Order: sequence, then structure tokens, then C-alpha cells
Amino acid sequence: MAGQILLTGGAGYIGSHTYVALHAAGFSPVILDDFRNARDAVPERLERITGAPVPVIRADVRDRDALARAFAENDFVAVVHFAALKAVADSMADPVSYYDVNIGGLIALLAEMDAAGCRRLVFSSSATVYGETEENPTPETHPRRAANPYGLTKITCEGMLEHLGPDWAVGILRYFNPAGAHGSGLLGEDARSPSQNLMPVMIEVATGRRERLDIFGDDYDTPDGTAVRDYIHVEDLARGHVLSLRALLEGKGGHIVNLGTGRGYSVREMVEGFSDAIGRPLPHRIAARRPGDVPIYLARTDRAAELLGFRTEKTLAEICDSAWRWSMRNSD
Ligand code: NAD
Ligand code: WQD
Repeated sequence: MAGQILLTGGAGYIGSHTYVALHAAGFSPVILDDFRNARDAVPERLERITGAPVPVIRADVRDRDALARAFAENDFVAVVHFAALKAVADSMADPVSYYDVNIGGLIALLAEMDAAGCRRLVFSSSATVYGETEENPTPETHPRRAANPYGLTKITCEGMLEHLGPDWAVGILRYFNPAGAHGSGLLGEDARSPSQNLMPVMIEVATGRRERLDIFGDDYDTPDGTAVRDYIHVEDLARGHVLSLRALLEGKGGHIVNLGTGRGYSVREMVEGFSDAIGRPLPHRIAARRPGDVPIYLARTDRAAELLGFRTEKTLAEICDSAWRWSMRNSD
């Protein structure tokens, strides 16, 4: 399948991996990103991986003029919308910025897509829309509950997208816990600000920038007492976007699907897996629960399999090994 695809936030962690997957599948992706949370080196890295020039529009996704120009100068068959703010703690400190970028950005994008007659969209949503889950693995039909302003922005965006009407086809992808890096060692999670997510923190410990990992709670109602998550390799996740786009472009209509593995790992299991990757035990201690954390997040995966033919392929060892390789090759 061919055609130009606009990737908002395409220089970021998940967007850059999806760029590679789309290129490999025969699409022509174009990045629109203001690089607030991406490195300037990403386009050149993408060129090295794909062996082709990487078109980049440096703009804010809320900039309607820039969007209008992008649609006028290209022939996009669909859009994948990654551009958003994504840190839960920041969203509690500064909710209005989250509403502005995440909801305002989607509104600007939808208005310009509509004006250009391009009405195929894949949207980055999150398992966070489920709030504290009553059913694990969690089906897509589970009620949505905002646990924080970030979660509220994803629920609000999903609601807006669900009511666009029959001219539109939208794929809402609810990612569980993306982790790992590209096999080349050239792309990975490269947050500008320090991350509080588990894998980046483990990397900080392994590289000596942090003394030890605090495991947030060992008294959850889980097999070893630590919280369980569904970690999905970012290359598997990227492939999910290709399948979602194909379904939309083949006229199969919209979908809301979880993208996860359906297999949970506890924080302790993650520490073991990462210790194997680095070849030594990762220093850690048990600390208090982190406020707002839920005991278990685990995806029901049958809908993604049925509607998109999506199945994950990568193992936990591949997640840990690739994340470690990426951090070793990009230690600055
Ligand atoms: P990221 O920060 O690496 O990528 C987002 C990209 O969007 C960055 O390159 C950033 O520069 C760009 N961006 C942000 N605001 C922008 C704006 N106003 N205009 C133009 N560009 C802008 O994050 P990511 O992990 O790749 O996440 C991508 C999407 O997936 C986000 O929508 C996020 O909410 C969602 N998501 C992420 C996770 C996760 O754990 N990483 C989980 C679930 C959902
Ligand atoms: C994973 C597990 C922590 C750090 C967040 C967002 C979610 C989605 C993905 C965007 C948890 C434990 C972590 C540490 C620890 N993002 N942990 N010590 O919280 O599952 O999900 O990212 O949509 O919306 O909430 O991910 O990587 O922060 O934590 O023990 O220093 O690791 O308690 O059980 P989380 P995470």
C-alpha cells in the first residue's frame, strides 16, 4: 500500500519507530513536529535507517496556517496523530497546558483535515483511559475514567473522534506500556526532561546517574506484591499503526483497539529482565507506593488480533536488550 501519511509528533519516541515501519510498508511518511520533546538528530537517524530523505515540517500542531500549508503542499491519504504532552505528573502540575496541546492540537488538526478532505486518522490513545481497572486483562468496552488531567485529555479526544460522523474513519489505539528501542541502536526513548517511567529510570541507575531504583510498593494484590504492567516493544507497537492505517485505507471503518501483549510483568520481573540485559544486578530497594498507581494494567488483545491481525512478536528480553543497547550508544 502506498501514499503520503502525515505523522504529527513523528520525531518522538513512538512516532520515529512508526516512521520506519511505515516506510518499510511502502508508505511515504512526512513528519510534523516542533521538536519540543525530540532531538534534532532524529531525521538524520531515520535517513540512515531508511536510506531515503526524511521530509520534516517543523511546526506546532496547533498552528492552523502551518497545517493548512502542509495539506496544500502534500497529498496525504491519512494522518497519524502522536503529537501530545504525556507526563502524568506534569499534567497534574499544569493541567491547562495539557488541555491546550492535547485537546487544542487535535481540534486544529481535525479542522484542517476536514478542510483538506483528508478524513482518515490514527490516534495515539492510552490504557490510562481505563483508570483503575475492574477487569484484567481489560477489554476495550471497559468504562473510561480520568485519573488525572492527562487521562482526561485522552478520554476527551476519544469522545470527540467518536462523534465525527460517517465521512470519517478513525483508528483509536490504546497503548499499554511502550518500552524498548529500535534494533539499530539509532532510535529510542530520548526524553528531553528526566522521565519517571520505569525503563528510563532503570537506565539511569545502570549508567550511574541514579543510585538505585525505588520499587514503588510491594504490597499490591499481585503474585509478588509489585505492580504488573503490559510492556509492549515499541517496534511491535509501530507495526500496529501500519495495520490500523491499512484497515482504514481498505475501507474497513474505524476501530478502537488495545495495543499490548496480554502478558503482564511485575516490577520485580522487569528488574530481573533488565539485570540480565546489563549483565549485573540492578541496585534497587522497596519504597512506598506512588500515588495514583494502579495494581495491574493488562490488555485484552483479541480485538486487535481480529480487526487488525495484530500480534506482538518481541520478548521481554528483546525489550530490555534493545533499550540498553540504545542507551549505551547514545550515552550523551
Ligand atoms: P514523545 O514526547 O516522544 O513524542 C511526542 C512528539 O510530539 C515529540 O516529538 C514532541 O516534540 C511532539 N510534540 C509535542 N507537542 C507538540 C506540538 N504542540 N506541536 C508539534 N509537535 C509536538 O512521546 P511518545 O511516547 O512518542 O508518545 C506519542 C503519543 O503516544 C502521545 O500522544 C502520547 O500521549 C501517547 N502515548 C504514549 C505512551 C508512552 O508511554 N510513551 C503511552 C500511551 C500513549
Ligand atoms: C511502570 C511500573 C510503577 C518507576 C505511565 C502512564 C500511562 C502511560 C504509560 C502514557 C509501575 C513502577 C516506575 C520507578 C517503579 N503513558 N515504577 N519505580 O505508570 O504504568 O504508566 O506510562 O499514556 O498513562 O501512567 O508506567 O513506567 O511509570 O511505571 O517501581 O521509579 O513501574 O509503580 O508499576 P505507568 P511507569
